[in-house]
This record gives sequence, structure tokens and C-alpha cells, in this order.
Amino acid sequence: MRYVRLDTPKPLSKIGLGTWQFGSREWGYGPDYERLAADIVRRAVELGVTVFDTAELYGFGRSERILGAALAGDRDKVTVATKIFPVLPVASVVQQRAVASAARLGVTSIDLYQVHQPNPVVADQTTMRGMRALQDVGLVGEVGVSNYSLRRWQVAEAALGRRVLSNQVRYSMLDRRPEEDLLPYAAQAGRVVIAYSPLAQGFLSGRYDAHHPPTGAVRRANPYFLPENLERGRTLIDTLRQVAAAHDATPSQIALAYVLRHPNVVAIPGASSVEQMERNAAAAEIDLTEDEYAALMNSARAFRPVTGLAAVPKLIRSRVRT
Ligand SMILES: NC(=O)c1ccc[n+]([C@@H]2O[C@H](COP(=O)([O-])OP(=O)(O)OC[C@H]3O[C@@H](n4cnc5c(N)ncnc54)[C@H](OP(=O)(O)O)[C@@H]3O)[C@@H](O)[C@H]2O)c1
Repeated sequence: MRYVRLDTPKPLSKIGLGTWQFGSREWGYGPDYERLAADIVRRAVELGVTVFDTAELYGFGRSERILGAALAGDRDKVTVATKIFPVLPVASVVQQRAVASAARLGVTSIDLYQVHQPNPVVADQTTMRGMRALQDVGLVGEVGVSNYSLRRWQVAEAALGRRVLSNQVRYSMLDRRPEEDLLPYAAQAGRVVIAYSPLAQGFLSGRYDAHHPPTGAVRRANPYFLPENLERGRTLIDTLRQVAAAHDATPSQIALAYVLRHPNVVAIPGASSVEQMERNAAAAEIDLTEDEYAALMNSARAFRPVTGLAAVPKLIRSRVRT
């Protein structure tokens, strides 16, 4: 395992584990997945993974409970990161919600407490007042944000009066916007970009095609999995396969190596099996050459999926068919 070079209390592994899937019906993994989830967590710890991401929203608290129970005695060794969903995130609410999350996780301190998304009405000054109080009493270690622009990340830092260690954003070969400003800022200021959906929810695994799309509500609502887009993505998947062959690796591992190339990035793929977790952890050791990186970038740029409003009628039609 490789770790981010930063002055954090505990080392942050380049590959973490995302746990939206835990206790969340919308991924469609069924009742046996809960037991598997615990095995995934334990194997991740064995492999040197130290970043575990959850949220009060995931499975309405079930993900936090499953993760906390699975980590058990290892809780103090790793960075447990959770998120407040900011409905009216005034200071007193932030404090109550942190206490509830800590109880579900079974921890006395949340290593990284993140604001799940910017609130359009409540200013960060208000939310960060609550975060600062939580840090002062030791219930929260580091503060993070999620889905924040660079500007709002910096505003949050000014409001906290301390570093806001991380910004968790969608970052994969298909979603490269963080490369424009968030990644340079993180590298220059000693901050971390936590890449969520680094496999584009499994699109980049090459496991799915127009005739075999994934099931489950999350991916049925994701335009990348429209048959048309799965078809359009074939060249990109072929490129991933070619690079993977040179490393005796899988397309998913190469897609993770692409985002991990940036020094201050931690990727938090979810996993539906222990084997996926093992492969994801191993991806931290892959070094892409300049030529490989350029080929991946060019192939990703050439992929033009149907997204946004244009995708909406197609998504509705594909849902009606299934
Ligand atoms: N802050 C936010 O707003 C936000 C939003 C979304 C996610 N997140 C966080 O980020 C985490 C990861 O994002 P995500 O779950 O949306 O997407 P992701 O990590 O890109 O995709 C996860 C899915 O990819 C497949 N997969 C994983 N490893 C694989 C491997 N080695 N080989 C082949 N397939 C593999 C699995 O699905 P199958 O096996 O079923 O194909 C798995 O469920 C979440 O768990 C959550 O913690 C945060």
C-alpha cells in the first residue's frame, strides 16, 4: 500500500474503502452482502487500507453501524471518515449529528468529519462554527467537505480558521474536472482530494456492455450505463484493457492508477466482493508510464457520453423497459 505524504495524525492510504454500498438497498446487493461487507472491511485493514468512508445518509445510518462493527478493535488504527448531510447545518445541529454518527460508528472521535455537500442557503460560517466546537472538545479530528468548488472550500477554511483537510469529489477518468483546480490546490496547500466513484460506479471495469447493463437503482439512474453510452465507451475500455495487459492487471486497477497518479489523491472505490477489494488495494502499487497516461487521457477525452438533459428521456425509456 502507498500513503499520502502529509502531516496527518494517521497515514492516509492512497486506496481507501467507500461504503455507500453497505446497508443501502439501492445498490441491489441483497441480504447476504451485510456479512460480506464485514469481510471486505477486515481484508482491507489487513492490506494496509487506512481510509474508510461512510455517511449518515448511507442506508440511513446502517453503513456507519456495519463499518464500525466490522472495524471493531482496529478503529483506532485507521481514519474513519463520515459525513453530515447538511439539512439546516447550524452549529447545534452539526454537533448533535456528530454525536449520533460517533455512536453508530462506536468511536469516541471521528477522524474526518465531512460536510456531504454545500448547502445553498446556510453559509459555511454557520456550519464551521459547529465543526470548530467539535474539534475543540475532541469529538472530531479533521474537518472535510464534499462536492465543494475550490472557492467554497477556501471559504470554508477561512470560516473554520483551520485547515479543511479534504474535499471529496467525483473524480475518475470520466470525470476529470478536479484536475483543473482542486488537484493543483491540494498539491500546493497540503490538502487532499478524495476521489469518489473512481471507477465511474463500475463503468470502467469493462464488465458491462449494452446487452449486459448493471442492475440496481443507483446505476439505472446513472447515464453512463445507458446502452448508447456503454456502446460509445468500448474504445476507452479497449485502451484500459491494453494498458492493463502490460501490467498484468485489470481495467479497474488501471482506472484507479490513473487517479492515484496525483500525489494528494486518495481514491475510495466501493467493492461488491473481497476479491475486488484486494484488486483495488493492489492498484496503489501500479505506476503508469507517461505514454500510458497520455493514451488513457486521450481515450477518455474521445469518449463523448450522452449526459445531462439529453440523457433524461433515454433514462426514463430504459427504466420502463426493465
Ligand atoms: N460524497 C459524495 O457525494 C459521494 C457520492 C458517491 C459516492 N461516494 C463515496 O465513494 C464511494 C465509491 O463511489 P461509488 O461506489 O459511487 O463508485 P465506484 O467506487 O466507482 O464503483 C463501485 C462499484 O464498482 C465495482 N467494482 C469495484 N471494484 C471493482 C473491481 N476491482 N473490479 C470490477 N468492478 C469493481 C463494484 O460494483 P459491481 O461489482 O456491482 O459492478 C462496486 O460496487 C462510495 O462507496 C461512497 O463512500 C461519495
